[in-house]
Amino acid sequence: MLSGKHILLGVSGGIAAYKSALLVREFVRAGAEVQVVMTPAATRFITPLTLGTLSRRNVIIEMFPSGSGEQERQWTAHIDCALWAHLMLVAPATADTLAGIAHGFAGTFLAATALALRCPLAVAPSMDVDMYRHPATQENLGILRRRGVHVLEPEEGELASGLVGAGRLPEPAVVCRWVEGLLAPPPQDFLGRHLLVTAGPTHEPIDPVRFIGNRSSGKTGFALAAAAAERGAHVTLIAGPVHLPTPPGVHRVDVTTGREMYGAVMEAFPQSDALIMSAAVADFTPAEPSGRKIKKEALPEEGYALALIQNPDILKAAARSRRRQVLVGFALETENGLENARAKLSSKNLDLVVLNNPLEDGAGFGTDTNIVTLISAGGNAISLPKLPKADVAHRILDAVAPLIS
Ligand code: CTP
Repeated sequence: MLSGKHILLGVSGGIAAYKSALLVREFVRAGAEVQVVMTPAATRFITPLTLGTLSRRNVIIEMFPSGSGEQERQWTAHIDCALWAHLMLVAPATADTLAGIAHGFAGTFLAATALALRCPLAVAPSMDVDMYRHPATQENLGILRRRGVHVLEPEEGELASGLVGAGRLPEPAVVCRWVEGLLAPPPQDFLGRHLLVTAGPTHEPIDPVRFIGNRSSGKTGFALAAAAAERGAHVTLIAGPVHLPTPPGVHRVDVTTGREMYGAVMEAFPQSDALIMSAAVADFTPAEPSGRKIKKEALPEEGYALALIQNPDILKAAARSRRRQVLVGFALETENGLENARAKLSSKNLDLVVLNNPLEDGAGFGTDTNIVTLISAGGNAISLPKLPKADVAHRILDAVAPLIS
């Protein structure tokens, strides 16, 4: 599976470093060439001789060769390593190494190499449960995820300290399969298909400076657009007001209000094979938005009622004009999720509903992960575990692909 692949394995100083010997063996068996780089602390847990022998390459530790057993090499070896690699995996990734990479410190050979990469970076955090849970570590992981770094969640279990919790490095075979998945080219099952994806909130103006909106970050919709493009689709992404970069190869149309989103969707819908409505469209909009900023003095002191009218329901309108298109809706429910999502599926005439509960830990607006249930028109419900939004996007597309063909 990894034949001809160049894997740069960064080993940092935690007790799980002992597993890196078996990890090197797994990679070599799968056909990869492995270059190990270690932090000085990692050498306290496992010897460079062991990892060098198994990888059949000299292990690199220090930024500047010191003659301490390391072969003569150029001081620019971190750049050479970074350019050589098809993927860098840091396993185990300690709290300190994660912090260094997240904040751009280049104090070790490993961290300097991670900064110079042009290939994907993957990290497998491993540390004691409280260090893993600490907001500093979690925020650093959030930074890395937002930059597209792949993060392998640690396993729960008994830790070297005797405490029990999340922090264990998964077994080498599991890590190796994960890396194989990261390096496998995505299936081209959407080649030649046109996908229409909406994302983000809508802003409904009260006056030129105020609006009614919601907390949608747009991350799920952008992840869906990116995943569909990777899988060969022509993607039109209709985005509400969000500050996210356009995924490569995606045609983006920016809109502000629900009515604008309705117009943009209806224009692109006839040419589409599927519409995925992940946008959190405002259901209501101010009936008469003011052309000028409303002055406080102009309003009654005891308060005033803002008249709202309903926005057009985009999914319902699309369902009315559909020919062959697959329709996917989202249901954000804090109670009676399955029941409400099934009701949405039939009332909006959908093929698939993606149900999620924003109150669950690791789900909903603004997070980098989500916990969703996919409910298809046949009534089938598949509950997915907590996954990064990119993985959720691929799982949704796995469900959409057979509906299109
Ligand atoms: N949607 C739409 N047009 C709207 C509003 C929502 O197409 N004007 C889509 C959303 O993109 C989402 C799904 O419909 O895919 C959500 O359904 P909706 O009934 O709007 O859910 P809620 O607004 O959450 O409904 P409720 O508040 O009744 O739960």
